[in-house]
Parts: sequence; structure tokens; C-alpha cells
Amino acid sequence: MSDKADQEITLEAGTHFMCTCGKSENYPLCDGAHKGLGKGPEKLVLEEPTTIPVKKPE
Ligand code: FES
Repeated sequence: MSDKADQEITLEAGTHFMCTCGKSENYPLCDGAHKGLGKGPEKLVLEEPTTIPVKKPE
């Protein structure tokens, strides 16, 4: 199904910068590939290790 997450990732507690542009080689984490796209990462602060669903934007 197209709305189902492709995979999951477990992130450690702390601050993460999540890719919103879909170009990151390290998706869902931002790797700086958004430069020139007019987009930027979203800051995510976790209190504890957390597993999140990952679905790369088309
Ligand atoms: S690489 Fe996608 S937001 Fe930074």
C-alpha cells in the first residue's frame, strides 16, 4: 500500500535533523543535500530512543 511506511529506523535520544526534501543519501536524516532547494531539515528532539516509520517522499 502506498501510504504504508517502507521501513523503520530507531533514533537515539538527543537532537536529530530530519530531511524534508527527500534528497538525503542518509534519509530520513538530513545530509545537507537540500542546499539550493529552498528547503531545510526539521529539528527533532527525542527524550529516549524512539523507533519511527520512514517513508521517503516521491
Ligand atoms: S538533505 Fe533533505 S532537508 Fe537536508
